[in-house]
Amino acid sequence: MKLKDKVAIVTGSTSGMGRATAVLFAREGAKVVVTGRNEERAKAVVDQIKSEGFEAMYVIVDTSKIEDVQILVDKTLEAYGTVDVLFNNAGALSMSPLQDVSMDEWDNIFCVNVKSALYLVQKVAPIMKAKGKGVVINTASVASFGAHHGFAAYVSSKHAMAGLSKSMAWELGPEIRVNAIAPGLIHTAMVDSIGGPSAVQGMIDNCPVKRVGLPEDIANVALFLASDDSSFIDGQVIKVDGGFEI
Ligand SMILES: NC(=O)c1ccc[n+]([C@@H]2O[C@H](COP(=O)([O-])OP(=O)(O)OC[C@H]3O[C@@H](n4cnc5c(N)ncnc54)[C@H](OP(=O)(O)O)[C@@H]3O)[C@@H](O)[C@H]2O)c1
Repeated sequence: MKLKDKVAIVTGSTSGMGRATAVLFAREGAKVVVTGRNEERAKAVVDQIKSEGFEAMYVIVDTSKIEDVQILVDKTLEAYGTVDVLFNNAGALSMSPLQDVSMDEWDNIFCVNVKSALYLVQKVAPIMKAKGKGVVINTASVASFGAHHGFAAYVSSKHAMAGLSKSMAWELGPEIRVNAIAPGLIHTAMVDSIGGPSAVQGMIDNCPVKRVGLPEDIANVALFLASDDSSFIDGQVIKVDGGFEI
């Protein structure tokens, strides 16, 4: 087991790649904190993990609200006493053209996609530093490298996430390693919300592996980054996109 007795917070784990990662981390021995706003789905993830004989709990959190993020830290420490792995994965999509993005929408996207990650790291890094070891993984995107028409707030937030990940690596080492995963097209609820993979067939046609990614494709990389197998990898934004962004 690669994460035996580690405590892992996985934000945005009620669905998609966060859910797949929470399940995989638990199977690898971690005590997993599942988070998101939807209690029914959070409970379903924890029930699945427990039914397999592994350990998890959920905390309902709206990561656009910093007071909720603090509750996530408090409840994790109350239940499990520490944090070894933090996966900042919760994310929201914005599809407003540049001229139409309201300041509220911009702020919400940045709160969910970036600010909550900074806040969580500020809270858990001292715990990891004191232990002499910890791992942070952030979810960036292929939108951390390029831009597409009509996604200004999302693209900007994911560029920020890439920069924040590198800054975190510099400032939190040597005890804490920080890397980001930059997914390409992964079949999750987020992609279904824009019509499913077929609505963005061009992204499939334009990558050498010629298929949509699965949540498990991301979970496997998250496990690698969370474990000692990646102990010499730090400050990287790793594309997991089937070659889309070559
Ligand atoms: N799918 C893709 O093709 C793709 C590509 C590149 C990057 N990404 C990134 O991958 C990450 C995971 O997305 P996904 O594709 O797995 O989509 P998903 O299935 O829709 O999952 C998104 C997760 O984020 C949580 N979330 C969203 N807003 C939240 C909020 N305000 N407070 C708390 N939790 C919130 C959702 O939980 P609740 O609904 O329970 O609140 C859910 O668990 C995101 O950061 C996304 O930007 C996705």
